Formats: sequence, structure tokens, C-alpha cells
Amino acid sequence: MTNNHTIADAGLFQTMEERHSVKAYDPSVKIPEEELKQMLEMSVTAPSSWNLQHWKFLVIDDEAQQEKLLPIAYGQKQVKDSAAVIGILGDIEANRNVEGIFTDAVKQGHLTEEIKEKIVGSINSLYEGDTSFPRDEAILNASLAAMQLMLSARGMGYDTCPMGGFDRDAFIEAFHIPERYVPVMLVTVGKRETDPRVSSRLPLDEVVVRNSF
Ligand SMILES: Cc1cc2nc3c(=O)[nH]c(=O)nc-3n(C[C@H](O)[C@H](O)[C@H](O)COP(=O)(O)O)c2cc1C
Repeated sequence: MTNNHTIADAGLFQTMEERHSVKAYDPSVKIPEEELKQMLEMSVTAPSSWNLQHWKFLVIDDEAQQEKLLPIAYGQKQVKDSAAVIGILGDIEANRNVEGIFTDAVKQGHLTEEIKEKIVGSINSLYEGDTSFPRDEAILNASLAAMQLMLSARGMGYDTCPMGGFDRDAFIEAFHIPERYVPVMLVTVGKRETDPRVSSRLPLDEVVVRNSF
């Protein structure tokens, strides 16, 4: 059911309400390259800590590769029948992106070289040592891009399903994921064959706390 939105962007709200996790896809549908590109371009408009862009997208759209993914995703059929599966990977060495990103900012006059050096130093120090920080950041930031991917796809008339149900170690091995990346989730993209079950949400007063617990 669509609510009446009196404020903000009704188009965006409609897209959000229309997005559901679709598990049954029309296997004959493929995504034109241009549309896939657009979807990914919209995904990377996501924000990220210091703009480090901790995401990498492994596009799996070759039938044999999707077949290979089936047992890794515990037989969940959507990985085989969807048009593509996007492996959302988080970059645990995202600090390595820092020079390129901040050098651009200096060139464009948004930062002085001195401030850039300070920021780069403090980011690099956060990535040193044996802490959960790089992994937490990778998963946090790549998840934002995944959400944008799902909304962009829906906005373009496609359906998606986010998936955490897969064997990560087997995925890393089968798809030769470099150590730099942590698998965050899989997102299937395609056109629905049957409508998904509509999911309910907890009432807002159960999930919102005002000012302090
Ligand atoms: C991180 C994450 C992992 C999920 N893993 C799976 C999965 O492995 N298989 C599946 O069918 N659905 C999976 N889902 C979909 C959820 O079941 C679904 O989002 C939830 O029931 C709400 O329904 P909706 O997405 O249609 O609103 C996952 C969702 C998220 C966010």
C-alpha cells in the first residue's frame, strides 16, 4: 500500500516503498550494459567516511558463474535466475584510496596541502594495528552503496534481493577475492517472476527513542 506523501520527493518515497526482496526472477531477462552502468554510477553516489569509498562491486552475470554461486548461497535460486548478482565487497585497506581522493580536493582548492597531510596521517594511523576498525568501516560504508544499488535498480524498474546467506570463505575462494576485500553481501538484480511476500515493519514507537534511553 502506498502512503500519501505530502512532503519531500514522492518519487523517491514510492521507489522505497516498491522495493521488496524478490526471490523469484524471470531467468530470460538480462540487464543492458548501459543500464547496469547507470545503476552502479548511482550506487557510488553513496556517502563514505572521509569519502574513502570503501566499496568494490563484483558483477556476476555469466551463467556458469551464477551456477557456481548456487551451492555457495546454500541453493537459494535467486542467484541463478536473476539477471546478475552483485557481490558487494568492502575495502579493508580503504586508506590506500586517500592520496588520490585528497589530492583532487587540494587541486580543486577545497583543502590546503598542509591540512591534507594532517588528515591523511590521521586516517592512516586509524588503519594501523590490529583493530576491528578497517573491517567495521568496510562493512559500514559498502552497505550504504548496496542500499543505493537496490534503490537505483528499483527506480529503473528492476527488482533486487540483498543476501547475507552465503558461505563467505567458499565465495572468496571460488571468485578469487583478494585479501584486501571482505564480502559484505550479495545483491541479486533482475525482473520478478512472481510478486514477493510483503514484509511488515515494527511500529515506529518501538524503534525510535527520543533524545536518550
Ligand atoms: C543483510 C541482509 C541479508 C539478507 N539475506 C537474505 C538471504 O540470504 N536470503 C534471502 O532470501 N533474503 C535475505 N535478506 C532479505 C530479508 O529477508 C528482507 O530484506 C526482509 O525480510 C524485509 O523484506 P523486504 O526486503 O522485502 O522489505 C537479507 C536482507 C538483508 C538486509
